[in-house]
Amino acid sequence: MAMRIELAPSILSADFARLAADAQAAIEGGGTLLHVDVMDGHFVPNITIGPPVVACLRRATKVPLDCHLMIENPDQYIPAFAEAGADWISVHQEACIHLDRTLHLISAHGCKPGVVINPATPVHTLDHVLDIAHHVLVMSVNPGLGGQKFICGSLEKMKALVRIRESRGLAFRIEVDGGVALDTVADVVHAGAELLVAGNAVFGNGNIRENASKLLQAARSAALTRA
Ligand code: DX5
Ligand code: ZN
Repeated sequence: MAMRIELAPSILSADFARLAADAQAAIEGGGTLLHVDVMDGHFVPNITIGPPVVACLRRATKVPLDCHLMIENPDQYIPAFAEAGADWISVHQEACIHLDRTLHLISAHGCKPGVVINPATPVHTLDHVLDIAHHVLVMSVNPGLGGQKFICGSLEKMKALVRIRESRGLAFRIEVDGGVALDTVADVVHAGAELLVAGNAVFGNGNIRENASKLLQAARSAALTRA
């Protein structure tokens, strides 16, 4: 099956005082989703943004907003994110006691449900929800901060997800988040990731539009050489 590679610039590394302009530059460079990192200071040590910022982004851009909830009690906040204009909402397996219910709750609010696993969480913990997930996000850093080093063990998990998807005839998409940059992008694409989140590599230094465009180009070249 041909891979549909998409770049999801993570606004975590954008300049929040010029958020709309930075996001627009990343989209002009080829970003087709905006990845929005929501952190609560409990599930992860950092605190970032909430529904009001999602609502502003919704007015500023047309691309789907991919909201990655790194929060405890996500059920409590899913309605507010949906109302603010989130298109995709992903929750951490580690944060959800009733994961099946939470994914159904996301769908019931009209959003695409995604499930996320931390670097220490095995793929098999998702066996019973893969049929209701629109996307599976494999963390390739420990969540909480941008600009961290890529954890190579995540590649095996992406490969395992490709095998499981094939053997069970499922359709979830595979997303990777953390340390995706020019030096790691070929590996993640070869491992089967098709939704590529990138924060620091897009917004960190230099020209945002060019950074996004070079990264996407590298990903598409890698897809052509995927076994
Ligand atoms: C990390 C966030 C990521 C982060 C990735 O907790 O979930 O989305 O922005 O940043 P980079 O691409 O800089 O590793
Ligand atoms: Zn993220």
